[in-house]
Amino acid sequence: MSEAKITLHDPKTGQTHELPVYHGTYGSPVIDITRLHAKTGYFTFDPGFVSTASCESRITYLDGEKGELLYRGYPIEQLAEKCSFLEVFYLLVHGELPTPEQRREVEHAITHHTLINESLLEFFKGFHYDAHPMAMLTAVVASLSAFYHDSLDINDPEHRLQTAYRLLAKLPTIAAAAYKHRVGEPFMYPRNNLSYCGNFLHMMYARPTEDYEIDPVAEQALDTLFILHADHEQNASTSTVRLAGSTGTNPYAAVAAGIAALWGPAHGGANEAVLAMLDEIGDVKNIDKFIARAKDKNDPFRLMGFGHRVYKNFDPRAKIIKRICHKVLERYGNDPRFELAMRLEEIALKDEYFIERKLYPNVDFYSGIIYSALGFPREMFTVLFAIGRAAGWIAHWLEMMDDPRRKIGRPRQLYTGPARRDVPR
Ligand code: CMC
Repeated sequence: MSEAKITLHDPKTGQTHELPVYHGTYGSPVIDITRLHAKTGYFTFDPGFVSTASCESRITYLDGEKGELLYRGYPIEQLAEKCSFLEVFYLLVHGELPTPEQRREVEHAITHHTLINESLLEFFKGFHYDAHPMAMLTAVVASLSAFYHDSLDINDPEHRLQTAYRLLAKLPTIAAAAYKHRVGEPFMYPRNNLSYCGNFLHMMYARPTEDYEIDPVAEQALDTLFILHADHEQNASTSTVRLAGSTGTNPYAAVAAGIAALWGPAHGGANEAVLAMLDEIGDVKNIDKFIARAKDKNDPFRLMGFGHRVYKNFDPRAKIIKRICHKVLERYGNDPRFELAMRLEEIALKDEYFIERKLYPNVDFYSGIIYSALGFPREMFTVLFAIGRAAGWIAHWLEMMDDPRRKIGRPRQLYTGPARRDVPR
C-alpha cells in the first residue's frame, strides 16, 4: 500500500488540507478521510457507499470493468474448475489453498460439526408450516448464539476459528431442517461419510423410509455454485456482517444479520425473483413487453438477475453458471425457462437501454434454473446462496477481528429534519 497525497481546498476558509492516498494491489486508489472531519469540520456524503471503501481487505478483488473476480488472487474460473468448496473456504479463511493434509483436516472438522443441538430442532416447530426458509434460517442461526455465547471468547483466535468451522458445518443442517419443516417430513440427521454437498442433498431429500442415492452431477453442480457464491468483497450482506461484528457482538448473531441482508430482492433474493419473473413472462413472445416495462421509469419492474453495482461487463460467475446449467439440464431434462432466459439475455444485450447502462446478467440470472432442476423449491434459492456466501462472511469477520485498527462501524449523516423547536404545549 503506497502513499501519496491529495490536496483539498476549502474556498470558504481559504485553507488547504492534505489527505493521504493509498494504492492497493489493484483497483481505484483511495483517499484516506479518517482525519477529514477533525481537520476540516466536513463529513463526506455517499448514500449507498457508491464511492466509499469501508475497509482494507486482502480476501477478494473484483474488477467490474473487466468482469474479473479473484479470491486471494486466484481467478474464480480456475477455482471453480479445480477446487472443492471446502478448499475455497479454507483459502478465504487462511489466505492459501490447503495442502492435502490441511484439506483432510478442514473436511474432518467441518464434517464433525454438522450436528445441531437437539433442542434447536424444537425451534422449527414454532414456525408455521409455510414460513419462508430465509426467515427460519435467520432466526435459527441467530439462536446458535444462545448455545455458544458464554463459552465463546471472540478475542481468542482459536475460538474464532472454531466458530468459523462450526458455522459453516451447521448451516446446511439448519437449511435442510427448514425445508423438511415446510414439507412436513422428518428431519434427516447429517452423515459423516458424505461430502459437504452430498450430505446437504441427503438431509434435503432422503427419507427414513427409503434409500437415497446422491447424484454426483447434483453434488458437483452444488459444490461449484457454492464456490461461485462464496465471496464478493464488501457486498451488502458482508458489510452487514462486518458492521454488526464491529460492535463485538456474537458472531452467530452477526452472520444472522448478514442472512437478513441477503434476503432482499436487490441482493441474494434476486435468484428467487428471476424464476418468478420467467414464470410471469411465460413465453418468448412476451419478452418485448417485459423489456419495455423494465425500461419504463414509471413501472417499478426491473429485469431480475440483470445489472450489478460493480460489474459493468459480464459477471464471470454468470458465464460459468450458464455452462453448469447446460450440464445439469442434460442430466435432468430440459426446462423451457432456460430457453426463455437465454432469449431474454440475447434481446436485452442488444437493447440500447441495457447497453448504455452496462447491464449484464449477474450471478442470479441462471442459478435458479439449476436449483429448480435439482429439486429445490424457489423459496430455498436464497438459502443456497447464504450457505455459499457464509464462507465469505466468516472470512471477513475473521479478518476484521484480527485487525488491530478495528473500530466500531458508525457512519454519520446529513441531517435535514426540523430545526430545534418547542413542544406546543
Ligand atoms: N432492470 C432495469 N433497469 C435497471 C436494472 C434492471 N435489472 N438494474 C439497473 N437498472 C437501471 C436503473 O434503473 C438505473 O437507470 P437510470 O440511470 O436511468 O436511472 C441504472 O440502470 C443504474 O441502476 P442503479 O439502480 O442506480 O444501480 P445500483 O448499482 O444501485 O443497483 C442492482 C444494482 C443490482 C441493485 C440493480 O442492477 C438491480 O436492481 N438489479 C436487479 C436485481 C438483481 O438482479 N440483483 C442481484 C444482484 S447480483 C447478486 C448479489 O450480489 O446480490
